[in-house]
Amino acid sequence: MAQEDIFKKLISHCKEYGYVFQSSEVYDGLAAVYDYGQYGVELKNNIKKYWWDSMVLLHENVVGLDSAIFMHPTVWKASGHVDAFSDPLIDNKDSKKRYRADVLIEDQRAKFEAKIDKEIGKARKRFGDSFDEQQFRETNQRVLANQVKINELTERFTKALNDDDLVEIKQIIIDYEISCPVSGTRNWTDVRQFNLMFSTEIGSTAEGASTIYLRPETAQGIFVNYLNVQKTGRMRLPFGIAQTGKAFRNEIVARQFIFRMREFEQMEMQFFVRPGEEMKWFEFWKDLRMKWHQSLNFGAENYKFHNHEKLAHYANAATDIEFRFPFGFREVEGIHSRTDFDLKQHEKFSGRKIQYFDPELNESYTPYVIETSIGLDRMFLQVISASFDEEEIPKENGTKDIRTVLRLPAFLAPVKMAVFPLVKKDGLPDIARSIINELKFDFYCQYDEKDSIGKRYRRHDAIGTPFCVTVDHQTTEDQTVTIRERDSMKQERVKIEELRSIIREKVNFKNKLKDLDF
Ligand code: GAP
Repeated sequence: MAQEDIFKKLISHCKEYGYVFQSSEVYDGLAAVYDYGQYGVELKNNIKKYWWDSMVLLHENVVGLDSAIFMHPTVWKASGHVDAFSDPLIDNKDSKKRYRADVLIEDQRAKFEAKIDKEIGKARKRFGDSFDEQQFRETNQRVLANQVKINELTERFTKALNDDDLVEIKQIIIDYEISCPVSGTRNWTDVRQFNLMFSTEIGSTAEGASTIYLRPETAQGIFVNYLNVQKTGRMRLPFGIAQTGKAFRNEIVARQFIFRMREFEQMEMQFFVRPGEEMKWFEFWKDLRMKWHQSLNFGAENYKFHNHEKLAHYANAATDIEFRFPFGFREVEGIHSRTDFDLKQHEKFSGRKIQYFDPELNESYTPYVIETSIGLDRMFLQVISASFDEEEIPKENGTKDIRTVLRLPAFLAPVKMAVFPLVKKDGLPDIARSIINELKFDFYCQYDEKDSIGKRYRRHDAIGTPFCVTVDHQTTEDQTVTIRERDSMKQERVKIEELRSIIREKVNFKNKLKDLDF
């Protein structure tokens, strides 16, 4: 099945099973804004906890923060967002659709990359185990021709971005014959910059209202609290401050479901270091963050680093961790070496001294900063798209059945255990409920007595519940139940009193965090 169709199925699955809803759906929705349903909120909270614990619990020099969304308007002047937080946009005059010019060019580059991947896929099939991808890349004429196109496009595009040359960006779109996906024409407007921040008013008009912004990143709340945390926590360099919270951007291109939203959540950490040591720490966090992603076992081949061609105004090194979504490799997390830019700017605009006295060097300086910044919603999309599966199950009559299953990592799954009485009588529902009453303090359990056992299994496969427990007549005699594991569908008869330890072993965060504690 085409990746596009799989993605469509995933989106409807998220809605059908209470993971993600379009915001204000009864009013036909609000573009690029989404709500998380009863299972979505559980998964989101679990991902957030995994990030928080692996940052704050596992590093004694990383502490948390929860700063407000509203901040003094000068924060955004100092950070550079008022002047420079914009995207280049372009309109197609025929379809009246608006696009990010840089995204149109990146999509064109992805098309060349897809052609190379196709050639490699065909060759791998033809040559089997003896296939040498490196050699093929270096010798196949079609691959080489596409690689030249990628290199030329990248070089021209990088220069245009670095020079902020909007005329050249439009020229690239024309030269590469990039057409509007809706109208199919190349009737483009000029490229212009568009600031992504949402603004609103604080205070009433009588008092003299002033314009403030909805924060476009959580990072600035950390920078302006650097001194508070450093002094009250008696923190010594290197140390980090982590926070999660909402961020808002008036994105021009609202597409790909929860990948690019106008209201989203970030999980960010700023790590303050001695000037001159930033590259060492940049490599340290790059490595650690990649290990965190790969700890979910979605396959190392589905991740890659993408070094930035154009550095943001505050950075001296930057890379993205990209994941292979159904629509291709895209950024999930950014790791940036932000120099001392932000702290220096806040020092300049606030007039306060924002420095660190280093007792070992016996001198004061402005710390440098390594940032790790991951979108919680993108992480959610990573988890759910890697877990979504339609498995073919052979039936006795020779036909096949399709089982839709979310193979979520058990410790992230919303519901850990579902308990079913085989029938709604003979005291079986009471036993099922008593099991839940006993275990609900350990993990999220659900009771389900509707439909056949087979249908109940399928319902919980689709939700991603790792364990289903069935109470039957034998339970009344020997206090045993069957426990069925989601992925293997294997069933085992165990004692009720063993359930807690069997399930807890598989679903608790502690085991996962221990694996991460390198
Ligand atoms: N403080 C640095 C910063 O905000 P960024 O690369 O603009 O850097 C960091 O954003 C992460 O936030 C991205 O890697 C992505 O996961 C997430 N993100 C950014 N814009 C987003 C959007 N419109 N919708 C969902 N997630 C977004």
